[in-house]
Amino acid sequence: MKFRCCLWGLALAFALGTPGACAAQTLRQAAGKIGLLVGAAANPDLFSEAAYSQTLARQFNMIEPENAMKWRATEPKEGVFEFRAGDAIVAFAAAHGMKVRGHNLLWGRYNPAWLTQGRFTPEQLRAIMKRHIQTVVRHYRGRVFAWDVVNEAFDRKGRLRHTIWYDRPGIGLAGKGTAYIAQAFRWAHEADPHALLFYNDYAAEGINAKSDAIFAMVKEFMREGLPIAGVGLQMHVDSQAEAEANVAANMARLEKLGVEVQITEMDVALPRNGEGKARQSALAWQAKVYRRVALACAADPGCTAFETWGFTDRYSWIPRHTHGEKGAALLFAADYKPKPALGAVLDAFAQALGKNPEIRQERLRFERKVEGAVREGVIPSAVSAPPGN
Ligand code: G3I
Repeated sequence: MKFRCCLWGLALAFALGTPGACAAQTLRQAAGKIGLLVGAAANPDLFSEAAYSQTLARQFNMIEPENAMKWRATEPKEGVFEFRAGDAIVAFAAAHGMKVRGHNLLWGRYNPAWLTQGRFTPEQLRAIMKRHIQTVVRHYRGRVFAWDVVNEAFDRKGRLRHTIWYDRPGIGLAGKGTAYIAQAFRWAHEADPHALLFYNDYAAEGINAKSDAIFAMVKEFMREGLPIAGVGLQMHVDSQAEAEANVAANMARLEKLGVEVQITEMDVALPRNGEGKARQSALAWQAKVYRRVALACAADPGCTAFETWGFTDRYSWIPRHTHGEKGAALLFAADYKPKPALGAVLDAFAQALGKNPEIRQERLRFERKVEGAVREGVIPSAVSAPPGN
């Protein structure tokens, strides 16, 4: 087995010109050496495709449902819960020794029509939100280790988005800042006190108005003793200027508050030609972006997962989202062949180990500290039981 892996690594090293690739043949192996979770968003409808399942199981130690645990999938009709797709993700993970990261419990977009068009009162919405969060989290209790509790609540200026949950009409906490987000965390924690609860957003990877607002929220939650374990930095990159700048600094300031960070949805969209392919130079640039972000995470004990939004260019949200103009955003080509970006991420993991042989232990210590705080139940009772709860 070892021999076969090394041959694969050698072939990859040769193809990509990356000397580090043989030392660490798969992402999963390389990440294991530094105590890092390496994950991908996945779609259970594709498990029947052999190359899809084999690549996913071989390369990753964590899986996240791209859509299968969202409201539209899990509560397609009011009060009627549907877990088949999510359960398929969990079963795949169990069969291949992978962890499951849940996504997501609350989002202002892509909700089912019964919810958005239901003209519910704040009191009704409050009950609907609590029932949904707790039913889903309880169903996956002990099988989903971390949840994106709230997704994309801030705009680029760092203001709370107007959503059904906040103020349209909201759950009775409109105008009270992040109180509705805090409430979502409390209900999720009640349903599974062991799950690690995350706030997740995009364009908040570096230091900017949005990440300042998230930082302020986390600081406040920590002060109140709310069970927030971390912040997910999505990392959808589609221009050179974006995303990577000051990522390490942003991670460091969040970690200082006592929370983990995870790269949750990385992809790097490239322009495509008429045949739907990206240029070699663009692929080389993409590899550099992946390398820098992977290294920032891998070398930082407080960054506990590195995850991409899908893994093969065959299936990615980018072409649909950009009307075919962009794509080729992931680590594996549409035919599942490794791209230069894969070698770059492998190199980054190896480099993190070379720079700090203790990185695995340091990361595990950081994780234990965060998990300990969450599991000890640090929420003061005054905060955990607001009026009308
Ligand atoms: O289910 C229908 C299917 O029946 C139909 O054939 C198909 C035709 O286009 O549409 C299918 O639904 C689509 C679904 O993806 C599954 O492919 C929805 O229209 C489409 O809106 C949905 O998009 C997803 C989007 O979130 C909204 O939920 C993307 O796949 C998914 O990649 C994207 O993921 C988000 C993260 O959750 C949060 N961060 C940003 C990220 C990218 O937008």
